[in-house]
Amino acid sequence: MLDKIMKTQLFAWIDKRTGAEAIIKSQLTEYPAPKNLNYMWNFGSLALLVLVLQILTGIFLVMYYKPSAEATFGGFTVAFDSVERIMRDVNFGWLIRYMHAVGASMFFVVVYMHIGRGLYYGSFKSPRELLWIIGVVILLIMQGAAFFGYLLPWGQMSFWGATVITNLFGAIPVLGEYIGQLLVGGFAVGDPTLNRFFSLHYLFPLLLAAIVGGHIHALHVVHSNNPEGIDLHKPEEQIPFHPYYTIKDAFGVAFFLLFYCYIVFFNPQMGGYFIEVDNYVPANNLQTPAHIAPVWYLTPWYTILRSFESKLLGVAAMGASLAILFVLPFLCRSAVRSARYRPVYKIMVIMFFVDVIVLGYCGHSAPTATLKVVGQIATAYYFLFFVALPFLPKFEKTKPLPEGI
Ligand code: HEM
Repeated sequence: MLDKIMKTQLFAWIDKRTGAEAIIKSQLTEYPAPKNLNYMWNFGSLALLVLVLQILTGIFLVMYYKPSAEATFGGFTVAFDSVERIMRDVNFGWLIRYMHAVGASMFFVVVYMHIGRGLYYGSFKSPRELLWIIGVVILLIMQGAAFFGYLLPWGQMSFWGATVITNLFGAIPVLGEYIGQLLVGGFAVGDPTLNRFFSLHYLFPLLLAAIVGGHIHALHVVHSNNPEGIDLHKPEEQIPFHPYYTIKDAFGVAFFLLFYCYIVFFNPQMGGYFIEVDNYVPANNLQTPAHIAPVWYLTPWYTILRSFESKLLGVAAMGASLAILFVLPFLCRSAVRSARYRPVYKIMVIMFFVDVIVLGYCGHSAPTATLKVVGQIATAYYFLFFVALPFLPKFEKTKPLPEGI
């Protein structure tokens, strides 16, 4: 189909003025990709798809949503009511809202798989350090966008989640309280907070779109890693992106859409994991919910925060747990990339994946003495994984790498 479009007179006219044909050929149709990429390499294109879906559904939601915490005659607030109106009165409003709310969680599912793939196959290592660093920036912006978005329905969890997190700034010495007040727009979460968060929630995905452009550009300069983690030297080790990976990505998209549609149509709450039940209760600043927890994709970091008695230490550890991702490419000194050829790293990285799930579980659950200790051990391993990386090459005996693929 693309071939047919590229043969039209209109395309020839555009090409003469933009060089579009050369760009499409070098960046898409004839872009060389390793011939052995497995399905773990589908998550990049899926992340792109979900980003587009989030922006599109978000644009429609904004047409009806009202960012105001003022009370209505019914005793609720304008924001809460506008979300209920979207669900009940707007044509297909329920669909657009569920696509967006489920899409937020699916975005993190896909991006966490994408990051996990990068960790397992050593895609963060030279020459892809900058590509990885841009990825970490993307992750932080995604987390910010999700956090800001969660306040918008102005439910109990929206309100108290934002209160807990914005209060954390107070722990930062000197400037902390000032930053907190600037973000909240006062001394407590209220109408100005909702307006600020709404504005940032709109801005962040657009920022994401621009940064993802940079991410893909950086990828196309250094090219994809592959499951063997080796550099490719022979032309026969590569295949053109189109039709081989366009069709493989399309298969991944179809598979993903099956899951996504199932959840959107049949189970949008996902047992309270994707949309918390407490958030169907309107925000009440006089009634603290029994258990406040962020949505599942933020709970690993919430556990790290809660693992320390001192608020300042907790905030510092949570910041460090994200910041350490930036320096990962420089911590890992082994010459071998893929975990397939690194027996010790393979065990460590699989344990790391389990560890993050444990951290997530602890953060989601109501705190108990046992879970607190489990969370503290999991937090310790989270950091140990990164701290141990520079020393690993000293005692890890890597397996011999293949000559080619
Ligand atoms: C909106 C979110 C993101 C989008 C749309 C996106 C998109 C992509 C795409 C299309 C690719 C090429 C296909 C593939 O390798 O899967 C890619 C590769 C890559 N991405 Fe992302 N990405 C996102 C987030 C991230 C994050 C959060 C990280 C890391 C923290 C990251 C790190 C990487 C790395 C290291 C590669 C190269 C993988 C390899 O060649 O093995 N990306 N990304």
